Amino acid sequence: MRISVIGCGYLGAVHAACMAKLGHQVVGIDVDERKIADLSAAKAPFYEPGLEALLEEVQETGRLTFTTDMSAASGSSVHFICVGTPQKSGENAADLSYVEAAVRGLLPQLAPGDIIVGKSTVPVGTASRLRGLISEQEPGAHLVWNPEFLREGHAVSDTLQPDRFVYGVSDGSEEHPAVSVLDDVYEVPLQNGTPRLIMDLPTAELVKTAANSFLATKISFINAMAELCEATGADVTRLADAIGMDDRIGRKFLQAGIGFGGGCLPKDIRAFMARAGELGADQALTFLREVDAINMRRRTRVVELTRELFGDGLLGKRITVLGAAFKPESDDVRDSPALSIAAQLQLQGAVVTVTDPKALHNASRRFPELQYVQNTSAAIENSDAILLLTEWPEYRELDPYIVKQSVRTPRILDGRNVLDPSKWRAAGWQYRGLGRP
Ligand code: UDX
Repeated sequence: MRISVIGCGYLGAVHAACMAKLGHQVVGIDVDERKIADLSAAKAPFYEPGLEALLEEVQETGRLTFTTDMSAASGSSVHFICVGTPQKSGENAADLSYVEAAVRGLLPQLAPGDIIVGKSTVPVGTASRLRGLISEQEPGAHLVWNPEFLREGHAVSDTLQPDRFVYGVSDGSEEHPAVSVLDDVYEVPLQNGTPRLIMDLPTAELVKTAANSFLATKISFINAMAELCEATGADVTRLADAIGMDDRIGRKFLQAGIGFGGGCLPKDIRAFMARAGELGADQALTFLREVDAINMRRRTRVVELTRELFGDGLLGKRITVLGAAFKPESDDVRDSPALSIAAQLQLQGAVVTVTDPKALHNASRRFPELQYVQNTSAAIENSDAILLLTEWPEYRELDPYIVKQSVRTPRILDGRNVLDPSKWRAAGWQYRGLGRP
């Protein structure tokens, strides 16, 4: 099939490459010339495991091209909308200007029978408004809302082997003309057993925001338990192991620590609350305000704990922060809890050095006032305290005996609860976790 993918960020670039991998003829379109130049040279504009190899593989087949020219969408029968919906500045609501621009730019290229597939995360109600716009221009074209659930760091496999497909169509029925077209697009994963659910447009939009709200709530729940554990001397990691063994609860997403960040969960729960307010249903989501507040409190708590580790203030203390990305296997620093903690400590007088295997370039653009050192050993040298804030495998595997030789004072704060406290303490370290005695 001939497919266009509008927007080549984390979502679109991966989606375009994966659609080509599934055998389709794909053109990726984006307004950012540098991104398009990189992608055309089979270079990933951001770090995502497996993406570059996939780009190389599919570009050799001639099935994948990239351009800034929207007219390249003409001739494709399926058009994926993969642009971002960031938080509006100064507001909780989502900024829909990129979605709006993508759809309006696409309108002149549409032909009867074309399918427009929305993948961006949007406030409920957006799809039906866009559908109106599309049918004014090309009554023979159809809109389907097909939310994406990929996780950064696992984006390629999440796209090729998703847990499920959700198709939102105007009448919510199997007979809608877009259904069989999308079935053809996803023929391979469907044949491999990926389930698909057909529903109406608002339900499909809500599935995505509900899923992210649930995940955020699960993380904040365990972080709230961590607060209680801190007040009572209990251990949140053992508590999570125990409650997680109940099938109904499950251990995944019960990792207490410095909380969630990134380009999705924080802004999605805020946009959801804003949209509920517009719909007069704000009471239904007041709990998300608490979820957000618990999450942001973790960052303050780490700063407090770091102060406690020193006992005599932060002024002039040399602190090494391990990790800048919002999570491992990513170079994304959007709303990264690690970086916001690093910046706060620096503001309070500490001398902060940040290291990360992949995210230092992005981090230094966002917080130029911090010091960045690529090499872990060099970053740790003469440190008064180490804060492990993003759990990259190489930080989890640090040897406390070896690291101790190069620091000034052996203090470590494990912001992700991934180190073995007894091992570090036995090696002579002052160890603090979050929600652990
Ligand atoms: C998320 C959703 O998982 C994905 O389905 C959706 O499409 C986009 O948003 P992503 O932002 O890539 O994906 O990251 P995710 O793996 O969900 O982690 C989000 C944040 O939560 C990270 O900062 C991570 O460190 C944190 N987290 C995750 C915890 O603090 N504890 C956990 O137990 C799990």
